[in-house]
Amino acid sequence: MADRIFEESRLVDVYDFFDSAERPDLDPYIAMTDEFGAKSVIDIGCGTGILACRLAALSKEVIGIDPAAASLKVACRKADADRVKWIHGTAPMLAGMQADLVTMTGNAAQVFVTDEDWMSTLRICRGILRPGGGRLVFEVRDPSKAAWKDWNRDQTYQVIEVPEIGKVEKWVDLLDVQLPLVTFRQTFVFQRDGAVISSDSTLRFRSQSEIIESLCFTNFLVEDIRDAPDRPGLEFVFIARCPG
Ligand SMILES: C[S@@+](CC[C@H](N)C(=O)[O-])C[C@H]1O[C@@H](n2cnc3c(N)ncnc32)[C@H](O)[C@@H]1O
Repeated sequence: MADRIFEESRLVDVYDFFDSAERPDLDPYIAMTDEFGAKSVIDIGCGTGILACRLAALSKEVIGIDPAAASLKVACRKADADRVKWIHGTAPMLAGMQADLVTMTGNAAQVFVTDEDWMSTLRICRGILRPGGGRLVFEVRDPSKAAWKDWNRDQTYQVIEVPEIGKVEKWVDLLDVQLPLVTFRQTFVFQRDGAVISSDSTLRFRSQSEIIESLCFTNFLVEDIRDAPDRPGLEFVFIARCPG
């Protein structure tokens, strides 16, 4: 079961509006499909489907998979959504499929809190990627930058106007830091009816060396670790290749 922010329809209906509409963080992933000559892409933790739909519009063969039904419902309403194969579920449901590129954007890799979940997801990615060139690309926050220090109401408060929904306030409160786990609450206030809905999440902050080790252990070659151009110095963007 995914967190309430991805599962509760009132929260999912406003989810995309709290991000910049252009989602510049996704541009490097789109560029990578060309860089690596990927024709088929599987987006794990695709959420509201922005990347999957943008890739489908570029005539890539795309699968978007996510355990949050409400997020997939929003994804299905987007332009080019009918060109994406949507799967409601998690990585084990991908067994037997094949792709040139697997993506996990929006720090989705940090939702795998236990080693067991993380390692089994990597193993499944390894199994579905084309040998000798298939790649897994994903980003995580650099734990040394302690992003959670800014996760408080003062620094995160936003109020936006959402078409047909009205003004919505949002902020983040840090609940617990027990590294490598960080737990926080996102609160939304819908001004039209005064509804207050919150969602708690826990993310795992893995070090660069821990991720390299997990990739090597699952038989990936770590080809590159890049910066995220829209969040310079804050993220690690891993590019892991399947050996031939
Ligand atoms: C921060 S969102 C990122 C969504 C999307 N990738 C993006 O860039 O907008 C994390 C996503 O991971 C999904 N998720 C949670 N647990 C998961 C799991 N075990 N396997 C795959 N996806 C999962 C959530 O439902 C959510 O859609």
